[in-house]
Amino acid sequence: MNYNPRDHYFKKAKKENFVARSIYKLEEIDKKFNLIKKDHIIVDLGASPGSWSQYCLSKLGDRGKIIGIDLNPVTFKNPKYIFYQQDIFEVDWNQIKNESEIDKIDIVLSDMAPKTTGIKFTDQARSLDLCLKALEVSDLFLSPKGHFVCKFFHSDDYKVLVSEMKKKFTQVEALKPDSTRKISKEIFLIGINKK
Ligand SMILES: C[S@@+](CC[C@H](N)C(=O)[O-])C[C@H]1O[C@@H](n2cnc3c(N)ncnc32)[C@H](O)[C@@H]1O
Repeated sequence: MNYNPRDHYFKKAKKENFVARSIYKLEEIDKKFNLIKKDHIIVDLGASPGSWSQYCLSKLGDRGKIIGIDLNPVTFKNPKYIFYQQDIFEVDWNQIKNESEIDKIDIVLSDMAPKTTGIKFTDQARSLDLCLKALEVSDLFLSPKGHFVCKFFHSDDYKVLVSEMKKKFTQVEALKPDSTRKISKEIFLIGINKK
């Protein structure tokens, strides 16, 4: 966690043994929309360093499982957690499905963020690409009535993404969690109940 050590959520995450302050964004989303259940199989895209996965693990019972994917590593181990250090654009889903022995996916989470270039339009376009890729994953593998969460850097493409999500989910919501920095352009889109 390389953020301001005086930040409230940074301190809270450290104290509660979470590897990143991002945990509180997912916690707020989950509390508001009641998404994660104890027997869920969850895919966590952009999982590193792992606080969203930690949060999900804390909610899962014996039958739940998480598949984490990120370019960067996640260093903790857990019997309910399978992690792949891969680029989302190069993932072999058949391999993952065979190795992890999963027969359904209940939630696809994406906190993926592009490496920012400082060039606004490039960063926004890359964020949209990551969201659309995450949405494609949910389209291919998420079970009916499954849920989808993705982080998006706000831009004019917002409507494009929301309208794509509305084709696939009964309910689409947007939330800027309290723990998101006020200056941040990030917003979370939540697709509830896959059609
Ligand atoms: C904000 S961090 C995620 C934090 C994480 N949710 C947590 O709670 O610890 C964004 C992550 O997206 C990952 N990412 C960006 N592009 C990716 C890609 N093409 N494939 C996989 N992961 C990617 C980055 O490596 C980075 O770790």
